[in-house]
Amino acid sequence: MRFPEDVPVLTDGVVTLRAHTADDVEPAYRICQDPVMQQWTTIPVPYRHEHAVNFLTEVVPNGWRTNTMWAWAIEYDGRYAGTIDLGDGEGGVGEVGFAVDPEVRGNGVMTRALKLAVRYAFDGLGWERVIWRAFVGNYASRRVAWKVGFRGLVTIPGGGRARGVRKDEWVASVGRDDELEPQGIWWTVPVLEDGGIRLRALRDSDAQRVMEACSDERTQQWLSGMPSPYGLDEAAGFIASRPDAAASGEAVAWAIADAAGDELLGNVSVFGLKNRIDRTTGEIGYWMHPDARGRKVMSTAVELVIAHAFRPIEDGGLGRRRLILRCADVNTASAHVAEANGFTRVGNERLADPRRDGTYDNLLTYDLLATD
Ligand SMILES: CC(C)(COP(=O)(O)OP(=O)(O)OC[C@H]1O[C@@H](n2cnc3c(N)ncnc32)[C@H](O)[C@@H]1OP(=O)(O)O)[C@@H](O)C(=O)NCCC(=O)NCCS
Repeated sequence: MRFPEDVPVLTDGVVTLRAHTADDVEPAYRICQDPVMQQWTTIPVPYRHEHAVNFLTEVVPNGWRTNTMWAWAIEYDGRYAGTIDLGDGEGGVGEVGFAVDPEVRGNGVMTRALKLAVRYAFDGLGWERVIWRAFVGNYASRRVAWKVGFRGLVTIPGGGRARGVRKDEWVASVGRDDELEPQGIWWTVPVLEDGGIRLRALRDSDAQRVMEACSDERTQQWLSGMPSPYGLDEAAGFIASRPDAAASGEAVAWAIADAAGDELLGNVSVFGLKNRIDRTTGEIGYWMHPDARGRKVMSTAVELVIAHAFRPIEDGGLGRRRLILRCADVNTASAHVAEANGFTRVGNERLADPRRDGTYDNLLTYDLLATD
C-alpha cells in the first residue's frame, strides 16, 4: 500500500480514522507525556520529541507500506485525538492497540474508534480474529474492549512486558462472526445512602480498616474462608480484586462508610450473580469493623442492598428475583440482620459450616423473594 494515499478513511460520523500527518506529531508528543498513558502502554519513558517524530513519520508509514501495521490517527471534534493500530495479522489473527488524548477521555471516542478498526480488520484485511491485550488494572481499556464485544477474558501472570519489566496481562478477543456488543454484565457500584451511612466502592485508602475488620477474632471465627493471618497485603488484595468481580459480572461489593466522615465501617456484597443455573438469585455476605458493631449499621446497609438488588437491571439495579443469606446457627448477630430485613429461614444444614478449629456448625439459609 502507498502512504498516505491508500490509507482508508473510516468514519461513523462522530469519530474519523485517517492517515497520520506531520501535524499530529506535536499533539502525539503531548499525549505521550500523560502518566496514565505511560503506565498502561509500552511507549519509551521519558518520551522525547524524536520518539513522536520517528513513530508518526517512519514507523506508521512503513507499517502500511509493508502490510505489517495499520495505524490511524483518530480525529474527533475537528482535531487529532489519538492513535489506533492493528498489527500482525498473519494467518488472519492480529492485535489492536490504542490510546486517546486525556482531554477527550470518557466521551466514547475510543469505543467508536475501536469498532471502526475491528470492522476494518474483518472486512478490509480479511482477518478472522482481533486480540486485545492490556496490563491488569487498566479498567478504562478493558471497558472499551468489553463495549466492543471482546470476550473470553483471561489473565496471564507476567504475560505482558513494558520497558523490560514483566507485568500481569489481560487478553480477550473478538471473532469475525461475533456481534460487536458487550458480552455479559459489567456491574456498577452505585453510592447508596440512608440512616447516616453511605455504601460506596472500596478504595485503596480503606486497607487499614479492612485489615482491622478482617483480622478481628469474630470475623475470623465466622468467616473461616478468610485468609489467616490477615494483614495489609490481604486487605489491599481484597480491595484490588473487587473491580474485577464487578466487571466480570460475578459480584458487587460496597464499603459501608460513615456518611459524615466516610470512614469504612464494614463491607457488604451481593455475589453469585453469574450462577450458570439461575441468573436471578444473589447471595448477600458481609462483615463489620469491631468498633461499628451493635449500632444496627449492618441492618441498614442490607436494607439498602436489598432495594438495589431487586431493582430491574434497566433501572440500574441487579435485577434479582431472590436473595439468600447464610450464617452459622450460633451466629446470633448475623441471623438477626437477616430476620430484621424480612428474610425467611428456609434451611438448616447440619454441620455444614466449617470452623477454623476443625469443628462444624449448622448452617442456616435465609431467603427473600422480590415478591415478599
Ligand atoms: C483506554 C482509553 C483509550 C479509553 O479511551 P476513551 O475515549 O476514554 O474510551 P471511551 O470513552 O470510549 O470508554 C471508556 C470507558 O471506560 C470507563 N472507565 C474509565 N476508567 C475506568 C475505571 N477505572 N474503571 C471502570 N471503567 C472506567 C469509562 O467510564 C467509559 O465507560 P462508559 O462510557 O460506559 O462510562 C484511554 O483511557 C487511554 O488512552 N488510556 C491510556 C492508554 C491506554 O491505556 N491504552 C490501552 C492500552 S491496552
